[in-house]
Amino acid sequence: MNRKIVLLPGDGIGPEVMGVARALIETLSDIAGARLELLEYPIGGAAVDAAGEPLPEATLRAALAADAVLLGAVGGPKWDDLPPERRPEAGLLALRKALDAYANLRPVRTIPALLDRSPLRDARPIDLLIVRELTGGLYFGTPRGITETGREREAVDTLRYTEGEIERIVRLAFRLAERRSGRLTSVDKANVLASSRLWRDVVERVRKDHPTVEVRHVLVDAMAMALVDRPWAFDVVVTENLFGDILSDLGGALVGSLGLLPSASLSEAGPHLYEPVHGSAPDIAGRDVANPTGMILSTAMMFELSLSLPDVARAIVAAVDDVYADGFRTADLTPADAPAGVRTVGTEAFGAAVIERAARRL
Ligand code: NAI
Ligand code: MG
Repeated sequence: MNRKIVLLPGDGIGPEVMGVARALIETLSDIAGARLELLEYPIGGAAVDAAGEPLPEATLRAALAADAVLLGAVGGPKWDDLPPERRPEAGLLALRKALDAYANLRPVRTIPALLDRSPLRDARPIDLLIVRELTGGLYFGTPRGITETGREREAVDTLRYTEGEIERIVRLAFRLAERRSGRLTSVDKANVLASSRLWRDVVERVRKDHPTVEVRHVLVDAMAMALVDRPWAFDVVVTENLFGDILSDLGGALVGSLGLLPSASLSEAGPHLYEPVHGSAPDIAGRDVANPTGMILSTAMMFELSLSLPDVARAIVAAVDDVYADGFRTADLTPADAPAGVRTVGTEAFGAAVIERAARRL
């Protein structure tokens, strides 16, 4: 039976990086003898323009019925004047919620040939995994919104977590830590927030089931500092939705570009969702300059976690390392003082170089 992959390019640079992912999947699944059916649907700004809503019913239905969902990016100033529930980002949040894609895994890894792109003076390879809770917290809690209170407006957002929501992400993080270095950092703001005190409580309870994992609690402000100070000291980092969002952009800067980071959002019941960490980058959209690496590595995570084709996943990751070692760079990674041997290429050419090398490795 064919396995169904739903592709949701979105808007901005989404369709450009998705074009690379599609070509990559087509070439490699052919070689690996995997029978995949690729189905494409609009989401975000593209769906707003075509259908007046950011997550059309047909898109949602196809995603729920898929074996895996791959998403580009959504959002941009073009849709700023729409009411919040009709903006592109609302479509993505609704999709994550509908899939119950609660566990957002964001590996932050230095690509060997890009160690010189680290902004840190003492650059050492980074290899950590941010485990971000994705369907709770401030992004979903109610009440929320802006109200008129007479003379001025008032806004409210709610950071709400149930014990069960915390427990499932924390349990997953412990299992991942066991499979990696055995070190887990839980990031919260327990000195101020009630939700963080509950979070810390749950971590302490769950750790009894994982006696070999070494656990540290770090406050999020201290964590921002520590990630700049000694990012190589961390392995698995588990945290709530907003903190994980912010810290992973910092992670992108640490390894050279936000365009490098992939993610997988795991669901217990539905298909998993794969998307790069970056947004729709409207400032560079439509010019064939976006870095497709985050999208390519998200595709590798899909081959490993949803399609059980770890060899294909490994070939993709190795091909990305090779392409950088061979001097290919997109514009975000080409400094004015680029070393000799560095070649600036566009999105498509970069993708083609990865596909060729990955195919050779299979
Ligand atoms: P962004 O991630 O789109 O861009 C931040 C900066 O990084 C920009 O200068 C951009 O050019 C650069 N950049 C991002 N991805 C890149 C890539 N692959 N290659 C080269 N450079 C890259 O974040 P920004 O500008 O804050 O948001 C733009 C829009 O994207 C907003 O509407 C925002 O809501 C949306 N967004 C969507 C996300 C998603 O679809 N998952 C995630 C984050 C933001
Ligand atoms: Mg973000």
